[in-house]
Amino acid sequence: MVKIAPSILSANFAKLGDEIIDVDKGGADYIHVDVMDGNFVPNITIGPLIVEAIKPITSLPLDVHLMIDNPDLYIPVFANAGASIITVHQEATVHLHRTIQLIKSNGVKAGVALNPGTPVEMIKDVLGEIDLVLIMTVNPGFGGQSFIPFTIDKIKQIAEWRDQYGFNFEIEVDGGVNTTTAKSCAQAGADVLVAGSAVYNQNDREQAILQIRQAVEK
Ligand code: DX5
Ligand code: ZN
Repeated sequence: MVKIAPSILSANFAKLGDEIIDVDKGGADYIHVDVMDGNFVPNITIGPLIVEAIKPITSLPLDVHLMIDNPDLYIPVFANAGASIITVHQEATVHLHRTIQLIKSNGVKAGVALNPGTPVEMIKDVLGEIDLVLIMTVNPGFGGQSFIPFTIDKIKQIAEWRDQYGFNFEIEVDGGVNTTTAKSCAQAGADVLVAGSAVYNQNDREQAILQIRQAVEK
């Protein structure tokens, strides 16, 4: 069954603890934490102090998506704060292989994300080293954007390489995932669907998560 990772970017930050408990009880598989630095993307969001504060609130894995330049500088601090998975952008690091090793040496699962405009070939050589590939289906920076259709082909290619070479990373998609777009992502090979506004803009988060799952199974 497809995993659902609600993005707390669309939560009410004034009551973040309750917002996390809500999706935890509502059947979420991961808590997706969007970290933005105002350089790599034009928005500033969450730092390690927030990750540390929410860690005791939930037993779900904290899926930390670093949309920041120089990720190596902050990987140890996010690992110590309680991240379960740390995903860096290929575009944000020159020495991707070294960055992946740094994440793993901190005892955390390693993910690599690709912007819509970055070809999947850019990460082909490290696919055997990682636990998660994150295909961005919008340009990162904000919740509530529209899904970019051509990214489906990227999910398919990554899934094809995984089969061909026997890798076992998860494929996650992020951006514009809702009851209309979820199925084609899952059919293309996505295992984890990040959903921000599709979950948090509804009052009943359990129902919102369920509706995405049902849309995939239909
Ligand atoms: C976008 C973030 C996403 C965002 C998704 O830069 O990486 O995780 O929260 O939000 P929705 O699901 O509303 O597109
Ligand atoms: Zn994200």
